[in-house]
Amino acid sequence: MKDIFNGIKNKTRQLTENPGTIFGLLYPYLLVIGLGLGIYYVQNLDNIARENVPPVLHDSTVVTDLTVKNSVIVPPINVFDFKTPTPELLSEGEKLYKANCSSCHGDNGKGDGPASAGLNPPPRNFTSREGWKNGTKLSQIYTTLQEGLPPSAMVSYDYLLPEQKIALAQYIRATFIPNPENDSDADLQALDAIYNLSAGQQIAAQIPVAKAEVLIISENENKIKKVESELNSLNSFSNDNGFKLFKKVTTEPKIALSYLINNNDWKKNLPDFISLVINNVNQNGFNGSVFNLKKDEWTSLYNFMLKLI
Ligand code: HEC
Repeated sequence: MKDIFNGIKNKTRQLTENPGTIFGLLYPYLLVIGLGLGIYYVQNLDNIARENVPPVLHDSTVVTDLTVKNSVIVPPINVFDFKTPTPELLSEGEKLYKANCSSCHGDNGKGDGPASAGLNPPPRNFTSREGWKNGTKLSQIYTTLQEGLPPSAMVSYDYLLPEQKIALAQYIRATFIPNPENDSDADLQALDAIYNLSAGQQIAAQIPVAKAEVLIISENENKIKKVESELNSLNSFSNDNGFKLFKKVTTEPKIALSYLINNNDWKKNLPDFISLVINNVNQNGFNGSVFNLKKDEWTSLYNFMLKLI
């Protein structure tokens, strides 16, 4: 017993005299902890490494607003009138081609315009009959222009009028494509039916949502200003009985005022005023205490509101 006691005493002395031995005693534990951390690290190398490098992902959630589009009246056309192109139609097609298409398809239709570099698939070479996806008929080129060829760089030109799309198609067919295929009557009838060509249509105008919001706000801006100036003038009414009632029966005086300003019908007579206020209690800034108003109180509240608004 005494030996054990001495042993412990010796050990304690050793430790205080030579602190390095603490390391010797702790060494096995440090080894195990180090090994554990090492194994954990290696096993999770994938996650650890990935989290170190913040991922740069393409943000596909960006919502683009609507674009401005004027209202368009698409005039009805008879597609059979364009079966054999007139010189006017072809020169209209040429103008449109130079403005919209030659950057990719090239002035000579060979698919070698300045913007064609690096496009995969490359722009169609119109001078060859190889590899056409929709085809060389008038109706088929019309479809290409209307729908585009996603996901390639050939986008939709649906905003061009039907006659302009036909002019382009006929220009390409007459100028570049060797022996383009001709449409049967059934092809042209189908084209007419799919795109409502003989009916014509009216496409409504469109403006960006953000812009519409600004317009709505500015439309109401004058009204809002009026409410604000009314609120400021309220203090000058502080002795008015109607004003005291107004304060009692409204939780949100500003909302109540703008509600009344936006619904002018209540000015016609007292019953209309009462039903407007009562039927929308809480949403309209008034509170439940309107139900306790007596007839003469309604009258003075009404007169006060008429004076104010
Ligand atoms: C930004 C470049 C670009 C512009 C501008 C462009 N195209 Fe294309 N077009 C392409 C590409 C690329 C293809 C090939 C797409 C594919 O093979 O999938 C193509 C294919 C076509 C085809 C072949 C369709 C088929 O059946 O294979 C026609 C016809 C065509 N374009 C007409 C036009 C006309 C007309 C215009 C102008 C209004 C135009 N393109 C403007 C890039 C363009």
